[in-house]
Amino acid sequence: MKDVCVIGAGIAGMTAAVKCAEKGIRVTLVSPAPSERAQSVMAMGGINAVTTYCEEGDSVDCHAKDTLKGGCFIAGDDAVRGLCSHAGEILDYLESIGTVFSVDEKGRPDRRAFGGQSHKRTYFCGSSTGKQIVSALVMEVRRYEAMGLIVRRLFTNFYSALIWDGVCYGAVLFDEKTNRPEIVYADALVIASGGLNTLFGKTTGAVQGGSYVTGKLFMQGVELKNLEFIQYHPTTLETYQKKMLISEAVRGEGGRLFYKDDSGNPVYFMEGKYGLKGNLQTRDVVAREIYNTGKEVFLDISFLDQKLIHERLSEVYDVCMKYRGIDITKEPIPVTPSVHFFMGGIAVKNNHETNIRNLFAVGEAASIYHGANRLGGNSLLAAIYSGRVAADEIASRESAGVRPDFSKELLETEKTIRRSGSDDSSFPVMYVRDMVAEVMLKNLGIVRNKESLEEGLESLEFYRSAAERIRYDASVQAFYNYSLMGVITLGKAVMESALFRKESRGAHYRSDYPEQEDDFGYSSIIRYCGDKLEIRYDRKREYES
Ligand code: FUM
Repeated sequence: MKDVCVIGAGIAGMTAAVKCAEKGIRVTLVSPAPSERAQSVMAMGGINAVTTYCEEGDSVDCHAKDTLKGGCFIAGDDAVRGLCSHAGEILDYLESIGTVFSVDEKGRPDRRAFGGQSHKRTYFCGSSTGKQIVSALVMEVRRYEAMGLIVRRLFTNFYSALIWDGVCYGAVLFDEKTNRPEIVYADALVIASGGLNTLFGKTTGAVQGGSYVTGKLFMQGVELKNLEFIQYHPTTLETYQKKMLISEAVRGEGGRLFYKDDSGNPVYFMEGKYGLKGNLQTRDVVAREIYNTGKEVFLDISFLDQKLIHERLSEVYDVCMKYRGIDITKEPIPVTPSVHFFMGGIAVKNNHETNIRNLFAVGEAASIYHGANRLGGNSLLAAIYSGRVAADEIASRESAGVRPDFSKELLETEKTIRRSGSDDSSFPVMYVRDMVAEVMLKNLGIVRNKESLEEGLESLEFYRSAAERIRYDASVQAFYNYSLMGVITLGKAVMESALFRKESRGAHYRSDYPEQEDDFGYSSIIRYCGDKLEIRYDRKREYES
């Protein structure tokens, strides 16, 4: 019997686990928090698919073309076509496991318009689509848990991958309950740890360990791709701790962006520049236009029937009321663009394997379908599709066979975790983490240039070189202590990738290179070589097979 270890229990991780279990593979499903706290629950707006209910003229080909165009033509054609052609089947699967989609007056699954799409093809569950899918998948996981095929390891973190001679044999985990590391051997390791939110601190995303997992793997030789493409969601609501997502669904239901001129009159700047579909341009375009106004921008949906708002946008209503006392049925929402999604991440081939054999990455942790900018509604689809693709590939392989002895790794891990650092240092670990996030946000904003990126790199290098002077803190989760270097190294990789791309494309806008250039029409690949970062363009499209 084969064993698989899945890191991350959001939608992509759960899908990979369930699909492996369906094929009789034993799965250890690892996560620092319950699935209900994963980033996936924050995907509000919907999931894209072409089904028999779609608009006349829509097709899988149109969906694929929109996705490739939205990503500024650097995602692989075959991968994107695979994604889009399975979307209808994925929707049927989700219904079959109990996801309740919103329906129209005739009882047919309803759709809404989303940005950058030639047709209305975003299916939704009110404005809590991610939550509904998570609930359905949690039930599936429980079913296989009861059969002994899935073992949940909650409150457990990834520490490192067991890699020997280009092959992965499992992972070192750190159990927060026992406060001890342990080895889990596996025929395949699947990384489903999500985006790089923690690197940026205050974002719309979950505050769990995605950036560290990616950072640590990077330092272990795993190649990363397209890190410079960071999606700023155009509409988020500022709160003390987080940027709350104001779903694109609001604009999909007719919401209008405006700012006030000097006399207090609304200026509908997106409609003024792009016409009727102005508010539903792709996210990179809308975020940049909001940034360029230099003014406070509002999103208005108060003209829509109250009943419709409560039926279709209830989560958005609740968020605005709960965090800011704003009644969206009566007043506009003040919005700002914030870091929301990472098109870049772990480089994978079309079967979702990395450059290390038997090491796979899925969901937002992987970089494959979204190119330079992701379309809203494609992330839930990609999370599920990628989990299935990886599970199919793993099932088709032989068991790993003889495993090297990794007991030395365990001793090393113990040492790193127990280190205390310098007691009188002025660099407490949590302070350094906050400073790194501040550097990332300041120097890698919606608009960046050589100067801001070089300044960012210099600051990150300062914190990296202060490593010996870090004051580790036994009162915080061990994870915060041992993950710091991985996070800083990853931050440097993101800055370097942005510096390397001397053009503007999708979510990567450089004021010193404002045009898109054909010469740069490739994915960037970065690798860590003994403390150095090596970067190249994938001109041979080696990751597209
Ligand atoms: O705006 C939203 O509801 C977000 C959806 C997504 O990121 O796909």
